[in-house]
Amino acid sequence: MPRLLFVHHTVSPATHDCYQAALEGARDPSIKGVEVVSRAALVASATDVLEADGYLLGTPVNLGYLAGAMKHFFDTIYYPCIDETRGRPFGAYLHGNQGLEGGQRALDTITTGLGWKPAQATVGVLGAPGPSDLADCRELGAAVAAGLSL
Ligand SMILES: Cc1cc2nc3c(=O)[nH]c(=O)nc-3n(C[C@H](O)[C@H](O)[C@H](O)COP(=O)(O)O)c2cc1C
Repeated sequence: MPRLLFVHHTVSPATHDCYQAALEGARDPSIKGVEVVSRAALVASATDVLEADGYLLGTPVNLGYLAGAMKHFFDTIYYPCIDETRGRPFGAYLHGNQGLEGGQRALDTITTGLGWKPAQATVGVLGAPGPSDLADCRELGAAVAAGLSL
């Protein structure tokens, strides 16, 4: 069965709301035949990445870059996964309180290096997520999962 790996760094109620919405979308019962595995960015491994068929990523933007935990994830998996995961689809949400540009730029650079293909535009959420932000996160999760559905 195709597997979607959801790697997230969840640090607060706002980021937890985004995480829950994206997970709910990915696990929507109407999407058949996709296993969704969720891992915190600080424990996700290269094996998790190799064993998945697509990726959902969720992280804060801190100091104009991806949160350190998400950077650690990419630092850990980059070379062990670069040959075998090229071409796989991914989607992401970024959360912040001021501006997400630096995080988006970093995500683009890293995923381009890995050769991962954006399945959806990144969802950006600033501040406390409102209903439309949560709907966007849910839609993101559902769309990336549906893309792996048999
Ligand atoms: C050290 C630090 C740096 C931050 N830098 C940024 C930033 O560059 N851009 C941004 O949009 N938010 C920034 N933030 C806000 C975080 O992204 C935000 O705290 C995180 O997503 C959790 O959301 P919450 O604080 O609303 O719960 C920063 C937070 C911290 C603690």
